[in-house]
Amino acid sequence: MNEWSRVRTASLAGSVALVTGSGRGLGRAIASRLAELGADVAVHDISESAPAQFGEEKSLTGLAERLAAEQGVRTTAVLGDISDEAQVAAMVEATRQALGPVSILVNCAGGDIGAAGGKPDPNGALDISLADTQAIINRNFIGTMLVCRAVLPGMKERQQGSVINFGSLNGHRAVTSEVVYGCMKAAIVHYTRCLAMELRHHGVRVNVVSPGPTMSARFLATRPTDPAMMAAGPDLDRYATPEEIAGVVAFLAGPDSGFVSGQVVRIDGAAGLYPA
Ligand SMILES: NC(=O)c1ccc[n+]([C@@H]2O[C@H](COP(=O)([O-])OP(=O)(O)OC[C@H]3O[C@@H](n4cnc5c(N)ncnc54)[C@H](O)[C@@H]3O)[C@@H](O)[C@H]2O)c1
Repeated sequence: MNEWSRVRTASLAGSVALVTGSGRGLGRAIASRLAELGADVAVHDISESAPAQFGEEKSLTGLAERLAAEQGVRTTAVLGDISDEAQVAAMVEATRQALGPVSILVNCAGGDIGAAGGKPDPNGALDISLADTQAIINRNFIGTMLVCRAVLPGMKERQQGSVINFGSLNGHRAVTSEVVYGCMKAAIVHYTRCLAMELRHHGVRVNVVSPGPTMSARFLATRPTDPAMMAAGPDLDRYATPEEIAGVVAFLAGPDSGFVSGQVVRIDGAAGLYPA
């Protein structure tokens, strides 16, 4: 995050943020940025150990404690599988008890992760297994929907809230691999538009960020990468950093974007403007 954006981004003090899938990767960077801006933050993951899978944190509770100590905000760690309605209800209630009602919801949990935990193989339109298909639908679309259904009625009642859902560049262009994943991200975009329409009279904004390839630890560990795309610099033909995604989420979370709802912000260095 550069100095200019630090100065220009409004404070989130007084907000309570729930960031799903924030034990690692993009979610972890987002939880850190929101805490840095003064929000109280519930970090969430499917297990205490998920943050350690690619070496980013020892545990979810350790991350929550570190953010509280470093940023002087209140934090809590909540667990739950977002594709299970009862677990979602429990994690939202645990957040409310620890920090108060959620005013910023970031639905970051998800990914192209199949039934066995890794990337589906095969992963095309015609050959992906049904088990992997269902796992991806659950982890992305159903999970986002269930968390929205658990949190947004309270926001509507309180007439206040900002929701940021996660799409992907692959949800906006045709692909020959990660097809089901792309379909679910496209579904999240449309679900978001419908929510924004439904909630526009109730003080609740709902937007999507659609990152291009971004250097989370899982991204780097689970596919061949191009070292030339990792160099920082003025050329936007490169991978994003998690912090570059977190900056846009922080903007959408706070008052600087107070009249923005139902929008998709593509964070891909203009990659999506050209054929893949
Ligand atoms: N990294 C990229 O290149 C990229 C690009 C576009 C979109 N995205 C999206 O950004 C988000 C974060 O991706 P990332 O690269 O940081 O991956 P990641 O695997 O590091 O983070 C995903 C998190 O979601 C959690 N999660 C997965 N399934 C869950 C479930 N059923 N219940 C609860 N938690 C669950 C994981 O444990 C993990 O903490 C995802 O929605 C992904 O689709 C990533």
